[in-house]
Amino acid sequence: MELNAKRIVLGVTGGIAAYKAAELVRLLGKQGADVQVAMTEGATHFVTTTTFQALSGKAVFTDQWDQRMPNAMAHIDLSRAADLILVAPASADFLARIAHGFADDLLSTMVLARACPLLVAPAMNLQMWQNPATQRNVAQLAADGVQLLGPASGEQACGEVGAGRMLEPEEILEEVIAFFTPKVLAGRKVVITAGPTFEAIDPVRGITNLSSGRMGYALARAARQAGAQVTLVSGPVAFAAPQGVDRINVRSALEMHAAVMGAVGAADIFIGVAAVADYRVANAAEHKLKKDTGGIPPIELVENPDILAEVAALPAAPFCVGFAAESRNLEDYAQAKRKKKNIPLIAGNLIQDGFGGDDNRLVLFDDAGVHPLTPAPKSVLARQLVEHIAHMTGNTDAHD
Ligand code: PMT
Repeated sequence: MELNAKRIVLGVTGGIAAYKAAELVRLLGKQGADVQVAMTEGATHFVTTTTFQALSGKAVFTDQWDQRMPNAMAHIDLSRAADLILVAPASADFLARIAHGFADDLLSTMVLARACPLLVAPAMNLQMWQNPATQRNVAQLAADGVQLLGPASGEQACGEVGAGRMLEPEEILEEVIAFFTPKVLAGRKVVITAGPTFEAIDPVRGITNLSSGRMGYALARAARQAGAQVTLVSGPVAFAAPQGVDRINVRSALEMHAAVMGAVGAADIFIGVAAVADYRVANAAEHKLKKDTGGIPPIELVENPDILAEVAALPAAPFCVGFAAESRNLEDYAQAKRKKKNIPLIAGNLIQDGFGGDDNRLVLFDDAGVHPLTPAPKSVLARQLVEHIAHMTGNTDAHD
């Protein structure tokens, strides 16, 4: 659980996107957050307090004169207990009030009285968002250190299309998790390969492997949440790019090679997670091979470039991390690959532990020795590997 024991006050203001805040409570709770909902009077016209009470398991606060707090200071008690106040949706009116320091209802008073960070997810009609008054308020809030999440562009409840939509609950969750993640890779540029490659035999057939992309995508997400600027060069997989990550889609090893070489010049760190085909078909057919044209077609193979080894050999090479998937002798084979490719760090995994699934068992090999990580979901291992890399590349706040 990525938000274990984090105390989050979720402020809900009046707007049609308030119904999405109900899902957000559920998602935050699923990640272990302790969520206290506070609603403006306007929000209660869209969704009832009962909905939020049922989902958060806690009484909802709406009124600054609420008598449930023994000291009659709900605004102080609720905001003092919080690690974060998140307002989603944040209406134009609410942004205007907090930009000017108003404290005329419970939620705005809590925001003014807070000693914790504030994230807001604006949600409003396109014209309201574009109005210079709103833009002034938003600029003021940003200058005051308030973090804005979105808004997104798209179809709006009023029928218009454009900026002003609240981010989806899953996207807000990602931003909240990123907010709490230590920024051990702040300012670093990271290029990561992920997934399988597909080496064409003819226009519809090819040679590939069972890499799902999960490990590489988990690393891209973890590196971005740790503050890095991430480019993900991805073979064909079924996932959307992690939020905030630039993805370059490729199919073959040659395409992956070209994309990496184009992206890696400015990189501080390169992580090769992809299961790259060692060979491609030299005589790939232009047209679909037909079965009845005399005998089994011969497939000639030719070696693909070793992307990782080539990056590691660049004159100003980034810090290079490799992966090794083996079916046996993990330590011997992984160490041999580390040496052959001349890289400082390799993460070894057994095929039966790592290929395809959600979990993995990683062993890290570097000059300092062998570091087995406890078997865990790939998201957890990715965070640990990011910390290890940050530590090796000189971030003294990171621990392996
Ligand atoms: O995608 P998942 O289902 O989550 O599975 C993850 C994984 C098992 C694929 C991943 O954890 C992993 O181990 N990836 C490396 C697979 C492998 O064994 O690669 P390799 O031994 O062929 O290559 C060693 C290293 O060189 C790897 O970092 C690879 O990306 C890189 N390489 C290999 C060949 C090549 N032509 N170019 C490369 O850059």
